[in-house]
Amino acid sequence: MQTHDLPATPDLHCVLCGVQLKTPLILASGIWGTSAGLLARAARNGAAAVTSKSCGLEKRTGHPNPTVLDWGEGLINAVGLANPGVEEEVHILRQAKQLLRPLSTPLIASIFGKTAREFAEVADQIQEAEPDFIEANISCPNVEADLGLPFALEPSSAARVTEAIRQVTQIPLIVKLSPNTPYLSQVAQAVENAGADAIAAINTLGPGMLIDVRAGRPVLSNLVGGVSGPAIRPIAVRCVYEICKAVAIPVIGIGGVMRGEDVAQMIMAGATAVGLGSALHYRGEGVFSAIADELRRFMREQGYATLAQFRGIAHER
Ligand SMILES: Cc1cc2nc3c(=O)[nH]c(=O)nc-3n(C[C@H](O)[C@H](O)[C@H](O)COP(=O)(O)O)c2cc1C
Repeated sequence: MQTHDLPATPDLHCVLCGVQLKTPLILASGIWGTSAGLLARAARNGAAAVTSKSCGLEKRTGHPNPTVLDWGEGLINAVGLANPGVEEEVHILRQAKQLLRPLSTPLIASIFGKTAREFAEVADQIQEAEPDFIEANISCPNVEADLGLPFALEPSSAARVTEAIRQVTQIPLIVKLSPNTPYLSQVAQAVENAGADAIAAINTLGPGMLIDVRAGRPVLSNLVGGVSGPAIRPIAVRCVYEICKAVAIPVIGIGGVMRGEDVAQMIMAGATAVGLGSALHYRGEGVFSAIADELRRFMREQGYATLAQFRGIAHER
């Protein structure tokens, strides 16, 4: 199609597990998702869906400061899964649902647990808030496993969590994967077979460490933290590509997305929708509408009228 034949405004809408999204741009977990007011603010600023910060069974205060640092090419963070506990989180998410309803913005409730059973318990309670999706953040340590490694590193642990959550809820389930495994395709297939409706990828990379050379010690109080932002984009795009090759369920591509063309990369790798995290830090609250404009400009330039016209095309080469 020639550029002059295109509609003036390319269509950015997409469908995630039957839920309509006006653009592919979703607020990723942990950034702004700590209160109903912030979730609604992201929606008012153009997020097509919003993800709450991961919540566990019990309240956690997280690690002492400093917990997040912008090191120039990205962020490093060790927040330590600070959250109010599931009971309080249900109130927060109910309030968020009320604020999001007039904006027609779906809510994704992110959860974590120390065991598969705990994941199921949190999922069971969180569904009282009627989120549109539950997202399982499985990048946390499995305390029942021999080495206590994160669930996301190994297919059978990832499948066990997915199955346990699936047994307690019919709400569409997104499982969020980690890049820190050599078994990424197998983990993706395991969660698909265990009943996940969608996959989000990636969580932070690492852990990484930064040393303050004047103080002569690591910057983060936790010493190490997860790396996000522009520096991890090529790894995130490769992970999304690999997962989309391995599974049939939709994938939310996350990791280092800063501009419209980064969104296009994720969609060409096969992603259905795209999460923004660190971009909120770098570009502020206008980032959703700015990136949507950049994506429309890119599509007009390239002669694309819809996202479907270029979704997954990188697999054809
Ligand atoms: C400060 C901070 C806190 C985060 N907290 C969570 C969290 O609670 N749950 C989760 O699944 N991911 C969390 N993430 C990971 C992001 O959702 C995202 O997967 C990751 O940062 C990569 O995307 P980005 O490069 O766009 O930031 C956090 C990231 C940052 C920077």
